[in-house]
Amino acid sequence: MALLPILCYPDPKLHTVAQPVLSVDARIQTLIADMLQTMYEAKGIGLAASQVNVHERLIVIDISEDRDAPQVLINPQLVWTSVETHLNEEGCLSVPGIYDGVQRFDAVTVSALNGEGQSCVIEAEGLLAVCIQHEMDHLMGKVFVEYLSPLKRNRIKKKMLKAQREDER
Ligand code: NI
Repeated sequence: MALLPILCYPDPKLHTVAQPVLSVDARIQTLIADMLQTMYEAKGIGLAASQVNVHERLIVIDISEDRDAPQVLINPQLVWTSVETHLNEEGCLSVPGIYDGVQRFDAVTVSALNGEGQSCVIEAEGLLAVCIQHEMDHLMGKVFVEYLSPLKRNRIKKKMLKAQREDER
């Protein structure tokens, strides 16, 4: 297993639209293991392949307290969304230190392949539903700050670029 570098906003590569995974083979199994390790190390609850610069439709999630219940979603498709939505405070490993409110569906149903390449249907609500919507946005090249006002987004962009310049020194 290996830790993968996580792309940081406003890296334009984060806006790449991911392609479907064609086969859940050894390469994908390695990617899943590496993404899980990277997510746990970064203390995140979700990570999309887009964030590690692999533009294929693959997400790993673990919302458990004990960090021992990994979920893998390959080629996820939204098949149902609740009418109700809710404003949730979100953060993102690609936008470290920034948290803000995003309106999300309260519940979603998603069909996907799991880590073994088997079809599954996930009925999610609460934090899991929010996390799935956030990660599926990454696969479409969308970062959560794009839901915020242009003013806020520009402030965040400047802050991120400044932090990245300081890191390079
Ligand atoms: Ni994110």
